[in-house]
Amino acid sequence: MNILMLGVGGFIGSNLAAHLLANSDHVIAGIDDNDEKIADIQHERFTFIPGDVRRIGDKVDDLVRWADVVVDLIAYANPSIYITRPLDVVNLNLFQNLELIDRCIKHRKRLVQFSTSEVYGLSEGRRKPFSEDETNLVMGPVKKQRWIYASAKELLERIIYAHGQQDGLDFTIIRPFNFVGPKFDYLVGPGALGGPRVFSHFMSALLTGGPMQLVDGGHAHRSYTHIDDASRAIQLIIDRPSACHQEILNIGSPQNGATVRELAHLMLDLYRELTGKSSEAKLVDIAGTSFYGEGYEDCDWRIPDIRKLEALGWQPRINLRDTFRSTMAWYLDRIDSADELPSYLRAEAVSLA
Ligand code: NAD
Ligand code: UGA
Repeated sequence: MNILMLGVGGFIGSNLAAHLLANSDHVIAGIDDNDEKIADIQHERFTFIPGDVRRIGDKVDDLVRWADVVVDLIAYANPSIYITRPLDVVNLNLFQNLELIDRCIKHRKRLVQFSTSEVYGLSEGRRKPFSEDETNLVMGPVKKQRWIYASAKELLERIIYAHGQQDGLDFTIIRPFNFVGPKFDYLVGPGALGGPRVFSHFMSALLTGGPMQLVDGGHAHRSYTHIDDASRAIQLIIDRPSACHQEILNIGSPQNGATVRELAHLMLDLYRELTGKSSEAKLVDIAGTSFYGEGYEDCDWRIPDIRKLEALGWQPRINLRDTFRSTMAWYLDRIDSADELPSYLRAEAVSLA
């Protein structure tokens, strides 16, 4: 199968491309405006096309025509950006995608669209796993800019669904639940605010001795999914077009739930186990509005219902401890062994966005 992957240079894209090349015969063409995380992928079935999708429309069109399936991963996906650059989020994560949808309809190609578990929004005290076709999607107030990302993704899902009904668009929508693994976002300097997602902050703190900052007490609850489990699920979705036709699917590990505070303790413990020494990193509390800016509000609780994927034969295999243990080991190995580190593995610059 010919696969066009938009955003191949990101965390999910780089891991997924490597997984598919190792575990299938698929031919991959990947677009991104950053190639650092795919620099190690040299394969006869992989072609990288550098560029900003907003500026290479003709090339994207040719590649959609070539492809059997289009996998779209491009988005701004770090909560700090939802607060500091909300309009960029809507422009890239929603409006830019409308063009891609049109191209898929024009060439009658299947679209596998990455959405987010964040569309479920606030739990409002419900403690029932979030189900794709049953759970209500509950956003906070407009003045809480954090929700602009989830709202844009939700509208994107609704537009894609409507095109499925009206134009017969062949699509599958994926809602990932906090994937974790090698090449996740980028490391930051001690005490950085905003910036990448939680694993990268905590890993940076362990490496630099900077604070592990617990936003609003670290009470928020997530379930974390190893990227290898996720890649197997995505491959299954790519390989089973008719079973996944016009479906929305959660990908997550319901057994891997933890509060952010519990996660900080787990990573401190794993750091001791992996290195034989204690990190100097200390837990400190910080308000969400100080860490991300005014307009931050958190998703309080998030566990997936994965019965739909289970019915297709997938189950997560990697538990919470092993998910973080193997990911941290990857970082420690790379950082110990490399002479020159790629920029995403350098815990230097303090990031404010
Ligand atoms: P990422 O930021 O690592 O990857 C996105 C990639 O898109 C980056 O490599 C970036 O360079 C590229 N990109 C951005 N703008 C571009 C442009 N204009 N032209 C070309 N390339 C551009 O994010 P990720 O974690 O890999 O997430 C991928 C997708 O999955 C996103 O749609 C995100 O919303 C969704 N998602 C991810 C998670 C997760 O657990 N990582 C959870 C929920 C949703
Ligand atoms: C993010 C993005 O919104 C989405 O890309 C995606 O849906 C989701 O990740 C995901 O990976 O599935 P979020 O879950 O809030 O959403 O991701 P993080 O930025 O990793 O934050 C998780 C929790 O850790 C939040 O409660 C946050 O406030 C907290 N946090 C983050 C800290 O306590 N300290 C930090 O240093 C960083």
